[in-house]
Amino acid sequence: MKNDPLTPYGNKPMVTPIVSAVNYQYTSFEVLRQITDGEVDGYTYHRDDNPTVRTVEKIVADLEGAEDCVICTTGMAAATMTFLTFLKQGDHLLTFHDIYGANYKVSLILEKFGVEITWLDAWDYQKVKDNIKANTKMIFCETPSNPLIKVIDIAYLRAQADRKKAMLVVDNTFATPYHQNPLKLGADLVIHSATKALGGHNDLMAGAIACSEKKYYNELWFTRQAIGTTLDAFSASLLERGLKTFEIRARKMSENAMQIAGFLKKHPKIKNVYYPGLETDSGHATALKQMKNGFGGMLAFEVGDTQEEAKNFVENLKVIIHAVSLGCTETLVCLPVLTTMLYMPLERRTSFGVKPNTVRLSAGIENTEKLINDLNQALKHI
Ligand SMILES: Cc1ncc(COP(=O)(O)O)c(C=O)c1O
Repeated sequence: MKNDPLTPYGNKPMVTPIVSAVNYQYTSFEVLRQITDGEVDGYTYHRDDNPTVRTVEKIVADLEGAEDCVICTTGMAAATMTFLTFLKQGDHLLTFHDIYGANYKVSLILEKFGVEITWLDAWDYQKVKDNIKANTKMIFCETPSNPLIKVIDIAYLRAQADRKKAMLVVDNTFATPYHQNPLKLGADLVIHSATKALGGHNDLMAGAIACSEKKYYNELWFTRQAIGTTLDAFSASLLERGLKTFEIRARKMSENAMQIAGFLKKHPKIKNVYYPGLETDSGHATALKQMKNGFGGMLAFEVGDTQEEAKNFVENLKVIIHAVSLGCTETLVCLPVLTTMLYMPLERRTSFGVKPNTVRLSAGIENTEKLINDLNQALKHI
């Protein structure tokens, strides 16, 4: 107890202390040896480890039913660390167009280092069967996906990955662990942009990689220590605070999304509504099988026929905010082709279902009626 840096005064503080120290004084060479030999969970230098960060890793591991979890600076750092750790020259990565846009940029870097990549449309995820190769080392997906909320059967991907002993990595940012635990469905690793619903308040950036086996944690830790993507203690503390209300926020976001999807589905100025909670959605049956407690807070829809109409709608919203990011207390909308997909060439952005007038909505935790009234009045302007 006395030597625990998180209980410096004997009694345990209610909030994990923010340990801002970069380095730590060795109390003896014997302690240095114990830390170096891994006999004690000691701390020496922030790039290696930090007690505030370590506490949050254990909370996220618990939420995902994981053996352990590596927290890092951003969701993109989490994805990139995963690729760098487990792929090498000549390996094949099988992934989907329907992943967060910045991954496209990372894919260009991976190709520079000799990784071969196949891109599929998540609506056709069963084509994975015909695209697995002898050198396939990893299948990487998001489900539901960004930005069209497409649902992929995780158990199906596991079965395909097993044919070549490939790893299965699932970005669970859209679903959140409140609705889906990919490790229990066969994934080896689960990635989060903890910037989103885990943090939940638009005030921190962080990434998380929850691991089915401790050996993955050790390998990812090696990469993080080497390249220096360790999260700062202040952000870790904000993340710990956000996580205290995570489940009630996730529940309310999902309830709001379901109500909003139902409203939009019936509205004459809305074309397609993409939300797996709708019985008519192509992902509904799979979502029922692998998601729990509802279907999450993310949906997408087409407004009118043109981008001008979609812009007009967004500019007339009074409660709902026009901004990127997601999973936070406020309801947000954006046009993916003008925002989250800017990382990709223009022609690629609309090649897998996203249209110039597609709007992505991240439900917040506000009063449902207030949100629907706002959507209703904004739609009157188009
Ligand atoms: C599904 C998904 N994964 C990963 C990321 C990247 O997260 P970050 O912005 O924390 O790097 C995002 C960002 O929007 C995302 O939507």
